[in-house]
Amino acid sequence: MSDAAAPTRFGEGPLSRAAARTAGDGPVDVHSAWLPPEAFRAVGSRRALVCGAGTLVGTVRHELARACARYGGTVAWRSGPADAAPEDRTGAVDLVLALSTAAPLPAPAAEVAEECRRRHGAGALGAEGFALARTGDVTVVLAEEPAGLLHGLFHVVRLGESAFGAGRRPERHRPAVRLRMLDHWDNVDVHPVMGQVERGYAGGSIFWRDGSPRGDLTRVRDYGRLLAACGVNAVSVNNVNVHATEARLLTDRLGDVAAIADVLRPYGIRVHLSVTFAAPVVLGGLPTADPLDAGVRAWWAATTRQVYDRVPDFGGYVVKADSEGQPGPFTYGRSHADGANLLADALAPFWGVVHWRAFVYDHRQDWRDRSTDRARAAFDHFAPLDGRFRPNVVLQVKHGPMDFQAREPVSPVVAAMPATRLAVEVQVTQEYTGQQRHVCYLAPWWSELLGFAPWGDHRTVAALAAGEGGGLVGVSNVGDDPFWTGHPLAQANLYAFGRLAWDPRLDPAAVLDEWIGLTFPPGPAGGHDLVRRTLHEMMDDSWRTYERYTAPLGVGFMVRPGHHYGPDVDGYEYTPWGTYHFADRDGVGVDRTRASGTGFTGQYPQPWRDVYESLDRCPDDLLLFFHHVPYGHVLHDGSTVIQHIYDTHFAGAEEAAALRARWDRLDGLLDPGLHTRVRERLDEQVRCAEEWRDQVNAYFFRKSGVPDARGRRIP
Ligand code: GCU
Repeated sequence: MSDAAAPTRFGEGPLSRAAARTAGDGPVDVHSAWLPPEAFRAVGSRRALVCGAGTLVGTVRHELARACARYGGTVAWRSGPADAAPEDRTGAVDLVLALSTAAPLPAPAAEVAEECRRRHGAGALGAEGFALARTGDVTVVLAEEPAGLLHGLFHVVRLGESAFGAGRRPERHRPAVRLRMLDHWDNVDVHPVMGQVERGYAGGSIFWRDGSPRGDLTRVRDYGRLLAACGVNAVSVNNVNVHATEARLLTDRLGDVAAIADVLRPYGIRVHLSVTFAAPVVLGGLPTADPLDAGVRAWWAATTRQVYDRVPDFGGYVVKADSEGQPGPFTYGRSHADGANLLADALAPFWGVVHWRAFVYDHRQDWRDRSTDRARAAFDHFAPLDGRFRPNVVLQVKHGPMDFQAREPVSPVVAAMPATRLAVEVQVTQEYTGQQRHVCYLAPWWSELLGFAPWGDHRTVAALAAGEGGGLVGVSNVGDDPFWTGHPLAQANLYAFGRLAWDPRLDPAAVLDEWIGLTFPPGPAGGHDLVRRTLHEMMDDSWRTYERYTAPLGVGFMVRPGHHYGPDVDGYEYTPWGTYHFADRDGVGVDRTRASGTGFTGQYPQPWRDVYESLDRCPDDLLLFFHHVPYGHVLHDGSTVIQHIYDTHFAGAEEAAALRARWDRLDGLLDPGLHTRVRERLDEQVRCAEEWRDQVNAYFFRKSGVPDARGRRIP
C-alpha cells in the first residue's frame, strides 16, 4: 500500500525498511501510525476557514496548513471581529472550523450554531465536544471551546471524503468520559529489574533515558498529536512505582515535567505525575508523611503550589499507596481516605485531581492460607470508605479484582462506591496478553467490560466511569520503538483505547476498521480490500484466540513469574502473590463462593452475587475464577472442563498458525519493514502458543489422567 522507497520523516510518510531499527541517538524514522499524510488528503485538498483564537485553535490551523501544503488546499483564519474581512468570503470555502465565540461567525457556521442551540440548548457542546454539519456545500465544525475544535478536526480527518458528502446529517459529539488518560509506567532511571519502562514492550521511554529527559521532544509532540486524534486528553509521565529519582520530578526536577507539558499542551493533553506518598520525608526532610500532620499538609500545599506555578494546567497526582511495597497511609495508622484527601486538599485550589489507585492487597500472603483471597482486597479496603473522599479524588480501579488478566470478572469495587468519583483502569500494554509479541486486539475485551451491568440494568461500567468527573485510564503501550508499540498491530490497541474512552458504545470492529483505514490508506500497490479484510480476520477475534491457548475458564495467571511471558502453570502456585488455581488430581479452580469459599461473590450486588455463586448459572468463561470443580464438570456447551481445556488449547494454537498464514498474503502490499516486523512477531506467537498448548494440556492430562476424547497427541 505504501511507497517504501519514498523519503520519510515522522508523520510525513510511510516507514521504510531501514526505519525498522531500534531508536538510537540520531534521528530515526518513526511510523506515522494513524496519522499518515494520506489521512489528511480530504481536508488538505479543500479551502478551509478557521475562526477563533488560542493555542489549540493554532494547532488546528497548523494541521490544516500542513495538509494543504501537501494536497493543494488553502487555509484562512479569523481570530475575531477585528480580523473579519469586509466581504464575507465564506462562499469560497469548503470547510469551516469555528469557535462559537468567534463572532461574527461566517454564515454557514452561524447557521449551524443557531440550529445547535435550537435543538440542544446553549452549552450543548461542552468543553471538548463539537457539532458537525453540512450547510449547502460547506462542512462546518462548530465548538464552544478550542479543545472541541481540535477533536472536530480529527473527526473530519477520520471521515475523509465522506465529511464532504452531500446529505450528511448533523452530528453532535461529546466525550462520554471526561478523564481519558494514559499512564506511563516509565522510569527516569533504568530500574535494575524493570528497566526503563516497567512492563514496556516497545523499547525505551519516549520521555526519559538513563536518568535524564530525552532532550528532543519532537517525538513527545507527535505522540500528543496521535493521542489527540483518538481522543485521549491526559498523560501521566512516570511509573506508579516511584523510585528515588522519579520522586524528584515533583520538586527539583519539575522542569523536566514542565517541558513535557509544554509540548503536549497544543494538543489538549494535560500532564499528571505519579508521586510517592513518602515525598514529605524523602524530598522534604520531614520526620513523617502522616496525612494528619500539619507540617505534612503544609508541605504538600506548598509543593503543589510550586507545581502549578510552573505548569498552570497540571492535571494532578497519581498515587499507588500501600501496594507492592509503595509507602502509604497505613504506616501511620491512617486510612486511604486520609491519604487521598491530603493530596486532594493540596490540589483543590488549582482544580487538580488525585488519581488514587485501589490496587491494594497483601503481596506477602502465605499460599497455605486458603482464607485470604486477593480478589477480595480492593473492595475490603475501599468500599467502607465510600463517601469519605474529597470531590477531587478519583479512585482508580483496575477493571478486574486481580491484575489485568485476559479474563476476569469486573471488579466489584466499581459498583460499591456510589459517592466516589471512579476511573476504571485497563492495561493497553500487553503484560498479560502477549507482551506485544502476540496479536491481541483488546478492544472487544474492554468493550465487554465497559458494557457490563453490575446491577443488571442500564447502569454499565461505562456509565459509572462517565459519571461526574469519572475516567478511563489505560497503562500505555508506547515506547521509543519506531513503530511506537513494538508490534505494529498493537497500535490498534492504543487507538481503540482513546476511541472507546471517548465513546464506550463504539463497536470494536468498527473502531478497528477506522484504524485500518487511517493507518493503511490505499496506496499504489493496491490490494486495499485484501489488507482490510485480512486485518479484520486476524484481529477481530485475536483476544479470544489468545484466551484459548492460555489460562482456561477465567482462572488466570499460569504465566512465568517475574516477566509474565509464556506458560508456567504452577509458576505462581506456591508464591506469596495470591494468584492460585488450586489444581489437583480431581479438579481445578478457586472457590470464591459464600457457601464454601472465600465469600468474594458476596461483594457483588444482585443479580451477579447469585449468578456467580451458582455453579449452574456462572458463565463458563469465568467458571474457574469462582468455583473449584472436578475435571468432569459439564459446561453449558456440553463439554467437560478437561475436554474444554484440550479443545481450546488445540484450537488456539491452530488459530495462531492461521494468523501467520493470513499475514503472508499481505507480503508486497505493505511497507516491507512493517511486514517483516509483524512476520517475526507472528513466528514467535505461533511458537509460544504451541508452548502454552503443550504445557497446559500436558499439565492437566498428568494431573487428571483423563485422555483427550479426540485422541490428539499430548506430550
Ligand atoms: C502489576 C504489574 C506491576 C505493576 C502493578 C501495578 O502487578 O506486574 O509491574 O506495578 O501491576 O499496577 O501497580
